[in-house]
Amino acid sequence: MPLQTLKTFKQAAALGAAFLTLAGAAHAQTAQDQKANQHDAALQQQATSRAAKAAGQGKSNEVVPNPPRIEDSYPLDSEATRTKSSKHLQQTVVDLFSLFNDFKEAHWNLNGPLYLPLHEYYQTQADTYRKYADVFAERNLSLGYSIDGRYRTIAATSTLPDMPGGYITDNGSLQLLIDRLTVFQKETYQDMRDVNDSDPVTSNKYQDLLYDVDHTLWQLRIHLKKPGSLGEDLPWAAQQTRDRAGQ
Ligand SMILES: [Fe+2]
Repeated sequence: MPLQTLKTFKQAAALGAAFLTLAGAAHAQTAQDQKANQHDAALQQQATSRAAKAAGQGKSNEVVPNPPRIEDSYPLDSEATRTKSSKHLQQTVVDLFSLFNDFKEAHWNLNGPLYLPLHEYYQTQADTYRKYADVFAERNLSLGYSIDGRYRTIAATSTLPDMPGGYITDNGSLQLLIDRLTVFQKETYQDMRDVNDSDPVTSNKYQDLLYDVDHTLWQLRIHLKKPGSLGEDLPWAAQQTRDRAGQ
């Protein structure tokens, strides 16, 4: 075979091989595309089937039992127990607002060397009792009753006496607040005991409040120590001495 013819033959063979490679690749690509299309179609079919099923369910006559009406789902087991808790809660909210006001009065009208620390301390205490008023008011709402926190109601129904008007001294403010907070403490312990069995959730909130009331009273009384005192001049020191002596 002439050399030229052989070259042409080789070129043709190479061309043929390249064509076959390209054709093979194109075929493989087409197969992949087909597979992907089939997958998409299957997904589409599944989605259509689910939608049809859901639409069918919506049209069914299946009866689903409703939960009890919300009016029948208030906490506690009877109207009497809820009313009892509500009575306590209303009074507590009123007295908490009253306490808030007492601490604000002391915060504003304070005079004396202890002005700055007491001014700040009374503000934090006022904030604490205002926040508790919200907790107890909303517990009353949760039990199915409205709350009355209007100023005229607070003035008419609070069991705590007003603070005196005008300026007050630093040590005088301590005694005034201790007196009011002690009345509130006694009432709140009674509230807690009264609802302890019938409404333990409300009782639990009273316990939280009392933790803070007891803590505040302790801190207020500490201020009544004279400089250099270790506590022997505190109001309860004489009683403690008698208790230790068994008298
Ligand atoms: Fe202030």
